[in-house]
Amino acid sequence: MHAREQWKSRTGFILAAAGSAVGLGNIWRFPYLAGEHGGGVFLALYLIFVFTIGISILLAELTIGRAAKRQPAGAFRALGGGRWVAAGYFGVAAAFFVLSFYSVVGGWTLAYVVKATTGALDGATAGSAGQVFNALIADPLKPVAYHGVFMALTTFIVLRGVAGGIEATSKLLMPALFILLLVLVGRAVTLPNAGAGLAFYLQLDFEKVTGGTVIAALSQAFFSLSVGLGAMITYGSYLDVRESLPKSAAWVAIIDSGVAFLAGLLIFSAVFAFGLDPAAGPGLTFVTLPAIFGQMPGGTIFAFAFFLLLAVAALTSAVSLLEVPVAYLMDEHGVSRRRAALLLGAIVFLLGIPSSLSLGVWSDFTLFGLGVMDFMDSATTKILMPFGSILLSLFAGWVVYPRLARELMQPAGDRIAIPLRVWGIVCKFLGPAAIIWIMAASLFS
Ligand code: TRP
Repeated sequence: MHAREQWKSRTGFILAAAGSAVGLGNIWRFPYLAGEHGGGVFLALYLIFVFTIGISILLAELTIGRAAKRQPAGAFRALGGGRWVAAGYFGVAAAFFVLSFYSVVGGWTLAYVVKATTGALDGATAGSAGQVFNALIADPLKPVAYHGVFMALTTFIVLRGVAGGIEATSKLLMPALFILLLVLVGRAVTLPNAGAGLAFYLQLDFEKVTGGTVIAALSQAFFSLSVGLGAMITYGSYLDVRESLPKSAAWVAIIDSGVAFLAGLLIFSAVFAFGLDPAAGPGLTFVTLPAIFGQMPGGTIFAFAFFLLLAVAALTSAVSLLEVPVAYLMDEHGVSRRRAALLLGAIVFLLGIPSSLSLGVWSDFTLFGLGVMDFMDSATTKILMPFGSILLSLFAGWVVYPRLARELMQPAGDRIAIPLRVWGIVCKFLGPAAIIWIMAASLFS
């Protein structure tokens, strides 16, 4: 057997893990949820959840991965015995299914990069931008083709390996992402009347908090940090003992929530500057923003930069989702990285096609009353992921706690940023309770 692949440097690992965390969840999902849930309060709740429960589970995943040196299925078996292996399978399966529709949206971002270059968004208004978006997602061919391109890029990066593919790409793309983001935020906050957006985004209006707000913020914190299905177990498994796990987890959480914060700043400044509706829902980035760019001097360039940013963020996240089942086939079935990546990349592509078509020609076909895309989304984010996370925190808190606590102390003498006790309490009680609550609430709503 080959020696397990490893990250080449600490910065490289942190950028790769941050690349996994920073994705469509931060730039597309976070702002539209914040817009729907009252702005500032949603932001505050999201940050609280990221730095309490979210970061604890992230730390648990990284620690499990480094201790076991396996992807989720193998890690649960190695540390907890055969009884626990099902918890790992949840993760591997969820990663696979999440990627199938994540990549469809990733394809839309590529389509918009192209639209920005070909002038299809020039002078867009709210009405015409809506038509452009609806025409794209309902088309039977184009979004499927873009989804194919997106999966091909993802597969290519994964098949180049941990250091040569994932780490190298993240080291190139993540700094580019920060620069693009800062330029765009700079432009947005200096628009006339951007202040109204800042007020909406930064003022705490507690009257807007409902049970739904709290749950949305908690599940967004998990999704955004890439926790709950073992992607971070997989990334942790390539980590050297010399790296501090708590510090790594802290960095990832800071970068992830920092990017979400900046994306919100960008979007709400722009939305309010042009007097549009912050609660536009999932269309906020694909419809509202193009309408803004269409009316802004130099808008075409900013539109291009924005959708490129979104595509880059989506790509490094998709890579982490594909790496979970690829590592599974490699570890557990001795398949070569190349074959595993090509095979799984192709299957994910096929699996995503019904999701894409469900927004157009196949919209009449439903599973449990949902279109295929919504079904995949709900089944993974509301059932598989929370289920996996409950098992994960119970496992970390009750079954292998002493082993993980030892792992966490390495390298020796590490000053732990989050006191170990608090972490233990979160894994034992708070984490499982919070997740059961999200699950129950979303099943009954
Ligand atoms: N965190 C990514 C985002 O915000 C999505 C993602 C990548 C993810 N890998 C994951 C979500 C693993 C859950 C689990 O877009």
